Amino acid sequence: MEPDNSIAVECKEVFREFQDGTRIIKVLRGTDLTVRKGDFVAIVGASGSGKTTLLNLIGGLDRPTSGTIFVDNVDITELNDDQMSEMRRSKIGVLFQDQHLLPIFTAIENVMVPMLLDEVRAEKRISKAMKLLEAVSVDHRAHHMPHELSGGMRSRVALARALANDPVILLCDEPTGDLDHKTGGEIIKLMRDLAKKEGRAVIVVTHDPEVARMADKIMLLRDGVLVEELISAFFKHSGVDVTRPKDEDSTADVTSQG
Ligand SMILES: Nc1ncnc2c1ncn2[C@@H]1O[C@H](COP(=O)(O)OP(=O)(O)O)[C@@H](O)[C@H]1O
Ligand SMILES: [Mg+2]
Repeated sequence: MEPDNSIAVECKEVFREFQDGTRIIKVLRGTDLTVRKGDFVAIVGASGSGKTTLLNLIGGLDRPTSGTIFVDNVDITELNDDQMSEMRRSKIGVLFQDQHLLPIFTAIENVMVPMLLDEVRAEKRISKAMKLLEAVSVDHRAHHMPHELSGGMRSRVALARALANDPVILLCDEPTGDLDHKTGGEIIKLMRDLAKKEGRAVIVVTHDPEVARMADKIMLLRDGVLVEELISAFFKHSGVDVTRPKDEDSTADVTSQG
């Protein structure tokens, strides 16, 4: 069968078990997931349901007990460690809650970190990093240290860095957890728009309804499998007005569990 090049990630019957002493914890139990290029999927679920475990598997930081995971049509469960590192370096961008910016480097140097292994000339790296900082509106702070930037700006720099290797997939684990709703909403909107423009897939794990409402699809991880959650059902008790256009700035003071 011809590979479908519109698919960024495909998980088929993924199981992940952990051994805890004599006990076996079955976290993922036959999880399926398909995410197309340009799609923005939110994954929600109770704490401990396996959301981070799933992101680690897709990002090649961990391997499933069984099942297959295709990233850009390559079965990554067949890769050796070197090939896996190369896959991560060339195809995956990551954004986390605590942005892991290197404190001794300026904003623009942080954005250039993922390009260091590429055979790209220094001037080209600098101009690409500056373009990315422009895209996230932090170019005027390019030569500032992380501690001189606000939390929102640090998140923007982290987003620019996550895009620096032109990833096929952007993996985000509760990326807005330490930001207020308005700032977090702005970051997610920016991420969605930048990713869509370039046809990158985005998978974001979140508890924040304001983040989830921007997704094309919400998947609920429960009992080790993903099920598509009707957006209206998810928001029924969240206090979020789903009739409001997605692009409108989120200024409402929303609590996550209404
Ligand atoms: N490396 C590990 N060793 C043992 N248990 C783990 C490991 N990683 C995760 N777990 C367990 O798997 C379950 C799911 O964890 P996690 O994926 O972090 O959940 P979530 O991100 O949804 O909160 C938890 O019970 C956690 O303790
Ligand atoms: Mg987690």
